[in-house]
Amino acid sequence: MTHTAATTHTAAMTHTAATTHTAAMTYLTGFANDFATEALPGALPIGRNSPQRCPYGLYAEQISGTAFTAPRHANRRTWMYRIRPAAVHGRFAPYAQPRLHNRFDEVAVSPEQYRWSPLPLPTEPTDFIDGLFTMGGNGGPDASGMAVHLYAANRDMTDRYFYSADSELLVVPQLGRLCIDTELGRVEVEPQQIAVLPRGVRFTVSLLDSEARGYVCENFGALLKLPDLGVIGSNGLANPRDFETPLARYEQREGAFELIAKFQGQLWRAPIGHSPLDVVAWHGNYAPYRYDLRRFNTIGSISYDHPDPSIFLVLHSPGEAEGVSNLDFVIFPPRWLVAQDTFRPPWFHRNVASEFMGLVHGAYDAKAEGFVPGGASLHNGMSGHGPDAATFEKASKADLSKPDVITDTMAFMFEAPRVIRPTQQAIDAAHRQRDYPDCWSGLKANFDAAKP
Ligand code: FE2
Repeated sequence: MTHTAATTHTAAMTHTAATTHTAAMTYLTGFANDFATEALPGALPIGRNSPQRCPYGLYAEQISGTAFTAPRHANRRTWMYRIRPAAVHGRFAPYAQPRLHNRFDEVAVSPEQYRWSPLPLPTEPTDFIDGLFTMGGNGGPDASGMAVHLYAANRDMTDRYFYSADSELLVVPQLGRLCIDTELGRVEVEPQQIAVLPRGVRFTVSLLDSEARGYVCENFGALLKLPDLGVIGSNGLANPRDFETPLARYEQREGAFELIAKFQGQLWRAPIGHSPLDVVAWHGNYAPYRYDLRRFNTIGSISYDHPDPSIFLVLHSPGEAEGVSNLDFVIFPPRWLVAQDTFRPPWFHRNVASEFMGLVHGAYDAKAEGFVPGGASLHNGMSGHGPDAATFEKASKADLSKPDVITDTMAFMFEAPRVIRPTQQAIDAAHRQRDYPDCWSGLKANFDAAKP
């Protein structure tokens, strides 16, 4: 899958800064391939990374997402050929965005089950960065772990650029399409697609619709990767060729712009006199990508019982212990339910893991009502949860002679081995459904010792 033939793709890869969103836009395919792409012919040096003088007067710069000495199969880095190095900008000062932070020790965490209605859309002009709202997390920029944020925005990031030095960002849109212009090219996503933005890579977000809302997971740990498939074999779940990385694309703009950095859990702002999206060519395997969740090859039971939700794993950040992820990204896509003598919805359970769920589209099969697109739920370690009373009643009496097909749905889960500690603002939010735990109160005792 290695994509090295820069010379054969020159025409297709020529992409000038003036181009707008067009049908001609294409992506490089494959997961974490060694890509090579240039927006001007001959911009990529051949046969070396840092020649004495780069073509077109560009600067060579490497960005490393793993240790220099990481084993080859895990080593991720990209060489950029750019108009100015990333070092060129003004001085950083704190930038106030109090709704975004990594303080996960604010609250004495209750084991209560939590659920929220969608984050309200802004009434004032709000861009992607100012529209972020931290829900919770664990660990932090100097450790492994993860954070969950929501975003709600109604305007483009204008003349400002952002990067997170703390984390890899997984963006899950729920409402509205996003155009994410990065140093390494343009990634467009719509609901039911995801974008992954590597730690350190600079980008700006424009809205392709009037409003946008969704979820962002910060991954403080090892880079997200595809899971091994074990006995599933060489195909299945998220297939590597469906991951799409942008072509090189640059803008040459000068003006009074802002560079916003997330560093050590807070935001910083520096003036910058040019667009940092000035990379004319690049090669490497550390780059943003997108994936369409509707392409997920869903595998389930064709005999009896509901498998563990790990069968729906899209990407994970490996942890230190074998088989235990720092972060799992799991989806619940449309699928057939055919299992016999089986309670077909997800079963009641308690986990050593903690689960933050969101809904991108449609309805989720374990809840009759209350969990709506844009909403969220949080079931932390060993807090009991599962189908609500109405779902239990219905599924217990369902006719199993026919298969069920679940369509029009796309739920997901950010799952972590450590408790996802909610923030004070998440607990206090007006859109928190304070009566959520009551959804199980209708589950009555059906036990009758005289009726086996
Ligand atoms: Fe669960």
